[in-house]
Amino acid sequence: FKAKITEEVLSRTKFYKDFPRPGVSFMDLFSITQDPAYFRKVLDAFKHVIEFEIGRPGEAFNILVGLEARGFVLGPILALEWGLPFAAIRKSGKLPGETVKSSYEKEYGGDVVEIQKGILGPESKVLLIDDLLATGGTLNAAGELVRCCDGAKVAGSACVFEIEGLKGRQKLTMNIASVVMLRD
Ligand code: PRP
Repeated sequence: FKAKITEEVLSRTKFYKDFPRPGVSFMDLFSITQDPAYFRKVLDAFKHVIEFEIGRPGEAFNILVGLEARGFVLGPILALEWGLPFAAIRKSGKLPGETVKSSYEKEYGGDVVEIQKGILGPESKVLLIDDLLATGGTLNAAGELVRCCDGAKVAGSACVFEIEGLKGRQKLTMNIASVVMLRD
């Protein structure tokens, strides 16, 4: 199943060489969203790997938290389909009210992420959602942030793309479900 969807996604996803920095090959999630039938297929595969690798929605996890920016495209759709809440982790300075912050290094440069205080609590079992796993810096920072929120737990994480060569999976402090593994 994974081999088939990997082949299709690789043939239909646009790659941009040297974006946003020289040496980085950028996979564009928005080349998937342009075709509704194909986007549906990728979302179904995404749901399937999440349920297989992380567990049942509402049981293994009870809230989806999307990472800026493409986690905001994928996360709310799955949250609605599973009848679960959705919350956002954003780059520094974009969220109103009191926030919790965490800084990190990623494939190209550093960043700070934050979440609004009061969204997560001791009952929260969070599934982190993003489009791509590269070095794992972003997801680890998000995981750290969640664990700073009043006893909230990280149930796991999920990305459509995983760049295997960067060994992000080995560095992650949580389980990861991904649809497509790319060598580099
Ligand atoms: C990309 C991608 C992930 C992150 C993965 O986002 O969407 O969030 O990098 O890299 P990592 O595993 O090495 O941390 P980017 O930082 O380009 O930000 P954007 O989504 O706001 O454009």
